[in-house]
Amino acid sequence: MKDLAKWSSSDRRTEKINIPFHTPLITGYEQKFVLEAIQNKYLGAEGFFSKKCSTFLENLTESKKVIMTTSCTDALEMAAILSDIKEGDEVIMASYNFVSAANAFVLRGAKIRFIDIDPITMNMDANLIESAISQKTKVIVAMHYAGVPCDMDKIMKIANQYQILVVEDAAHCIGAYYKDRHLGSIGHLGTLSFHETKNIQCGEGGALLVNDDRFIDRAQIIRDKGTDRTNFNLGIVKKYTWVDLGSSYGLSELNAAFLYGQLNQIKEVNNVRIRLWKQYHTFFSDLKITGIPDFHGNGHIFFWKFETEKERDKMIHHLKTCNIIGVSHYEPLHLSIAGKKFGRFSGDDKFTTFGAKTLLRLPLHNGLDVDAIEDIIQAIYKVL
Ligand SMILES: Cc1ncc(COP(=O)(O)O)c(C=O)c1O
Repeated sequence: MKDLAKWSSSDRRTEKINIPFHTPLITGYEQKFVLEAIQNKYLGAEGFFSKKCSTFLENLTESKKVIMTTSCTDALEMAAILSDIKEGDEVIMASYNFVSAANAFVLRGAKIRFIDIDPITMNMDANLIESAISQKTKVIVAMHYAGVPCDMDKIMKIANQYQILVVEDAAHCIGAYYKDRHLGSIGHLGTLSFHETKNIQCGEGGALLVNDDRFIDRAQIIRDKGTDRTNFNLGIVKKYTWVDLGSSYGLSELNAAFLYGQLNQIKEVNNVRIRLWKQYHTFFSDLKITGIPDFHGNGHIFFWKFETEKERDKMIHHLKTCNIIGVSHYEPLHLSIAGKKFGRFSGDDKFTTFGAKTLLRLPLHNGLDVDAIEDIIQAIYKVL
C-alpha cells in the first residue's frame, strides 16, 4: 500500500491544522493501468480493464453479473428500467436517502412511498415496509447507509411474500457484508458507487450487480444504448441494432483502468478507515457520549447525532474555527420540492427529519492518520 497516510504527524504539526472532510483515495497503482489503457488504443466501454473490474467484482460479491457503469446513479436508472416500472407504479424507500434512487424510478413514472428510518443505523426501518405496500408496489429500495446493512432477511422475506423486487443501493458499501454476503448481492439487483467520495473510487463510476438470471441479457442491452451490441461482439449477430430501451451507461476504459488500480486494495483501504473509525468510537465511548453508532461497516462514515440541531450546528462551527470540516448529510426527500411532487410519506416521520437535523459526519478518509483523528478529538474535547 502506497501513500495512504499522507500527513505524518511530524509533517502536519509544524503547520496549522487543516483537516478537510474528504480527500479522494490515490493508491499509487492507477497511473500504470491508465497508461496501459492508452497504449491498448481502446477507450470506450467494455474494454480490457472494464472486464477486469467486472470479473474482480463478480468474485468479490458473488453476484451473477457485474456491469460497470458511469455512476451509481446510472446503475440505479438501469435497475429502474429492468424493474419495468410503468406510470403510477410505487416504489418504497427511506426518505433519509440520496436523490438518485428516487429520481431513477420517478423518471420511469413511479411514485415514491417514503418510510421512516431506524434511528440507530439511519437505514430504512424494515418493520414499516408492509404498511406502505399497495397493489401498485413494484420495488423496495434498500439503501445501506455508511456501509452498515439494512435488515435484509426481513426485507427479502416481505419482498418474496408480495412478489416485489428488491434493489439494494450499496453506493457506500464496497467491502461491506451482511451475514457473509457482500452488500448489493442479496436483492434482485444492487448498485455500487465509485464516485471520488467513496472508499474506492475512479472520479465518477459505478456498477450494477445483477443477482437474478432473468435480468442479465437485458441489462447488457440497456447499458449498450438499447442495442444488441454484446451479441454482435460475440459474433452471434452480424449487425447490431436497436432492440430495447437503453442509454450510454458503460464505464469508460480510462476510468476502469484507474479503478482497477484501487480494487486490489479494498481490504487494506477499509482496514485503515475502520481503524480510524474505532479511534473515534473509543473516544466517544470512554466519555460516555451518546448518539454514536456501534457498527463500523466498511468504515465509510463516522457520524454523531446530537440532541438538537442547534448543538450540531454549534459543533460544525467550532470545528470550522479549528480548520476541521465536519458536515451534515441527506435532507429528507419527502420534504424536498420534488419529493412532495413525486412521493409521499407513509406513516409517521418519527426519526427522519430529526435524524437529518442532528447528524454530523466527522472527517474519515485514507488521507488521515491517527494523529489527525487525535487533533479532531482534541478540538471536540475542548468544547465538551
Ligand atoms: C446512497 C447513495 N446512492 C447513490 C449515490 C450516487 O452515486 P454516484 O455519484 O456514483 O452516482 C450516492 C452518492 O453519494 C449515495 O450516497
